[in-house]
Amino acid sequence: MIRIAPSILSADFARLAEEIRSVEEGGADWIHVDVMDGHFVPNLTLGPPIVAAIRPVTKLPLDVHLMITDPDRYIPAFVEAGADLISVHVEACVHLHRTIHFIKEQGVKAGVVLNPHTPVDMIRHVIADVDLVLLMSVNPGFGGQAFIPAVVPKIREVARLANEQNKKIDIEVDGGVNAKTAPLCVEAGANVLVAGSAIYNNPDRAAAIRALREVCTR
Ligand code: DX5
Ligand code: ZN
Repeated sequence: MIRIAPSILSADFARLAEEIRSVEEGGADWIHVDVMDGHFVPNLTLGPPIVAAIRPVTKLPLDVHLMITDPDRYIPAFVEAGADLISVHVEACVHLHRTIHFIKEQGVKAGVVLNPHTPVDMIRHVIADVDLVLLMSVNPGFGGQAFIPAVVPKIREVARLANEQNKKIDIEVDGGVNAKTAPLCVEAGANVLVAGSAIYNNPDRAAAIRALREVCTR
């Protein structure tokens, strides 16, 4: 089953509650929340107070993607704010194994994220510890960028690695996912698709979500 996780980065922040309700009613499975610190990535977005504010707005799981330096410092605040899944970048964690367990100890799911150029081998020894692997298919920082096709073989590699270790994980792809690129991701083994502009640029959110599902089940 394919899960669709709209990224609120492309939503109208002045009407965030409505924007979240529109995708929940439109059939979204998760809400993807992009946290940027202006240091790990060249953009600033939001922090725990916004996550806490949207928590009561939706029943959907909050999929929090931390694009920040030193995530350990802020993980408890995001847990407290109501995150269901917290993903950290391999490139931002010196002690990745410790960070993953720090997330799980607090009772939420843990994910690891790889930038487009980061080899899958970086997570070989932690894949057994995580609930999800998120592969970036753009350089993180902004919505609306073009999908980098070189990530498709990496999806296959992650699927193979998880299989070899008999580990059931979610494989999520983030960046430039639309009706053209989504089938490539799913065919390679992804089961969670993040989409920002492909969903929020369409006034009919249900139609945008349906279109993504349809191309993937063909
Ligand atoms: C990029 C973010 C993405 C972004 C995706 O740094 O992690 O979640 O919002 O936006 P689209 O789908 O427009 O590429
Ligand atoms: Zn993201």
